[in-house]
Amino acid sequence: MLLAGRTRRMAASAVREILKVASSPGVVSLAGGLPAAESFPLDVMEELTGAVLARYGSRALQYDASEGFAPLREALVPHLAERGVVTNADGILVFSGSQGVLDTVGKLFISPGEVVVVERPTYLGALQAFNPYEPRYVEVEGDDDGLIPESLEHVLATTPVKFVYLVPTFQNPTGRTLSLARRQQVASILQTRGALLLEDDPYSDLRYSGERVPPIKAFAPDNVIYVSTLSKTFAPGLRLGFCVAPEGVQRWMVIARQGVDLHTSTFSQALAAEYIAGGYLARQLPKILELYRPRQQAMLDALARHMPEDFRWTRPEGGMFVWVEGAAGLDTERLYRRTVERGVAFVPGKFFYADPGDSGVVPGSGPGATPASRPAATLRMNFTAADPATIDSAVEVIAQCIAEEFAATHA
Ligand SMILES: Cc1ncc(COP(=O)(O)O)c(C=O)c1O
Repeated sequence: MLLAGRTRRMAASAVREILKVASSPGVVSLAGGLPAAESFPLDVMEELTGAVLARYGSRALQYDASEGFAPLREALVPHLAERGVVTNADGILVFSGSQGVLDTVGKLFISPGEVVVVERPTYLGALQAFNPYEPRYVEVEGDDDGLIPESLEHVLATTPVKFVYLVPTFQNPTGRTLSLARRQQVASILQTRGALLLEDDPYSDLRYSGERVPPIKAFAPDNVIYVSTLSKTFAPGLRLGFCVAPEGVQRWMVIARQGVDLHTSTFSQALAAEYIAGGYLARQLPKILELYRPRQQAMLDALARHMPEDFRWTRPEGGMFVWVEGAAGLDTERLYRRTVERGVAFVPGKFFYADPGDSGVVPGSGPGATPASRPAATLRMNFTAADPATIDSAVEVIAQCIAEEFAATHA
């Protein structure tokens, strides 16, 4: 075997195999995490490209600094300040998608067997980014208000932890948002314990109702690597992510990424600089929200109309996903095979668990804690990629298949 030992942890992702059918023609997919094609600013791309070539000429096609294209870093300063992340251009690093940041952080911090704390469930792509570095995961439960701070505190007090990975706003996969009070609590726990948080925030601009909540970075700037992306508000194909890291970490992030891709596409970064500084993002974002708001409502209405009474689901104020917890006995991987035959796909929830069994879990405690979730009975549904009528009929098909599943297992 020529491959390195670490490739054991990179085995072809079962979920990618399963989801291949989700992109077959004729399948309505609530499975992907894709922005709607209509959300892209196609109508201004020619103008943006012309502006980039006129302003930067050959500089937009040349090698550039590993830290990022200076005009983009400048443009991101006020964009981040609106979210409560206060920094200057030198404090921002641009990466090839937020996925590039997740990989770099994994590479810098994880030696085999060291502990990374994740939510239960967590973002599948983060597990894929960290797995090659062979961490041991400790999962922390949450409830409707997100991660339970006391559980995090317990882990940090009893285990040497390399870093904590959280998606506090409109989490992928659950759509949950960590409450303001808990953010402050988490920040103070990080500070007291001298712990490092990787805060992944791709979705906070996609808010359809309610009030914006500041990121944890705003409360504990020296303990947080804040990472975000333009994938959801510009175009994921341009591969533009960025981060704001504590000073001592930033230098290492630049060195680590140099060995991987030197820097992010200069042309993509120049387009993004123009997109933000030229006011295009400010004009596009309301259009994206108007596109997604009714889609999310359609999904919530469809769930209320079609799902069995004992099912629970999240009601996020933004993002791209709703998370459904089915009744005991439901196996959503089996359900998936049934719905795909009827032309509808979703993601079985178990793939979002570092450990789909029950070991290593720090259960919820305190008021509002829910019992440990049952991974096999959960599913993630995306509402951004289909129109409201399609969403309604897709949810109806899933509900019919659930009824068939229960009928088959109780026959
Ligand atoms: C929580 C989370 N982090 C990171 C990413 C990756 O985004 P990017 O396109 O910036 O690599 C996604 C994409 O869906 C995501 O949901």
